[in-house]
Amino acid sequence: MPIFEVKNIKYTYDKYENSLKYALNDISFNIEKKDFVALIGKSGSGKSTLISHLNGLYKADSGDILYSGNSIYSKDYDLNSLRFKVGIVFQYPDYQLFSETVIDDVAFGAIKKGMSKDEAYKKSLEVLKFLNIEYLKDESPFNLSGGEKRKVAFAGVFVMEPEVLIFDEPDAGLDTMSKINFYNFIKSLNNDYGTTVIYITHNLDDVVEYANKVIVMSDGKLIKMGKPYEVLSDEKVMKEADLELPYSISICNKVKSMGYDIDNTKLTFSDLLDSLKKL
Ligand SMILES: Nc1ncnc2c1ncn2[C@@H]1O[C@H](COP(=O)(O)OP(=O)(O)OP(=O)(O)O)[C@@H](O)[C@H]1O
Ligand SMILES: [Mg+2]
Repeated sequence: MPIFEVKNIKYTYDKYENSLKYALNDISFNIEKKDFVALIGKSGSGKSTLISHLNGLYKADSGDILYSGNSIYSKDYDLNSLRFKVGIVFQYPDYQLFSETVIDDVAFGAIKKGMSKDEAYKKSLEVLKFLNIEYLKDESPFNLSGGEKRKVAFAGVFVMEPEVLIFDEPDAGLDTMSKINFYNFIKSLNNDYGTTVIYITHNLDDVVEYANKVIVMSDGKLIKMGKPYEVLSDEKVMKEADLELPYSISICNKVKSMGYDIDNTKLTFSDLLDSLKKL
């Protein structure tokens, strides 16, 4: 059974105006447990709006969302417990931080979920250590840089041990090493614990490197979902979404146009090097 079944959801921000513009226009897709899904599309295409539906923060005007087979819109559904299972790190971390110190902030959700205080603080400290920001534990979250705030917001979600981790542009505000460490960490959670991951990104090279599935949005619609190479090499879709090709697809296209038969289904940096070596 898919972990998420999204069925024909529609959502508009201006419900009371005459001409409705749908931020989400009849979106349907499934996500399986252990998927690592990249959500891509131009600015304003509806990505953030879509993920805000997945933990029930926004409610669709029509359509349905099933989590592990149960409609999150049914009357007796426990949305609070859904928010512990589906952890979202939002685009603007300011909205997610509110405690006096970083460590309090990180431990907050886990305590609310029912973890003992001792355990929550112990785990919070471990996560801060892992993210190399242990030295910030007694700071006020409001005095941090953008990248540090993101890490703190992420730590708070992670300590709750969600089944699904959702990130809205996790790489924004992170330097290259932090970004690589971050993605490797998420990838290991995905491999070792089967955590489902959904992330929004504008960097298509990171899609190729980490995702097993891609969803493309354009103007409130889902225009394609599939494996990275299927989606990113679909010129019609990429054009419709107004997205640039990732470097590996451009290189494959160039090599093909020179008359060589290169395997364009393998697009990570190391796979691409292998394919080029074989040629
Ligand atoms: N709070 C809001 N009130 C009214 N309209 C909104 C609001 N938030 C988003 N919208 C509109 O809904 C549409 C989708 O916005 P959304 O933020 O989901 O896009 P996005 O794909 O996440 O863009 P970005 O890549 O810039 O973050 C846009 O047309 C946007 O103007
Ligand atoms: Mg957004």
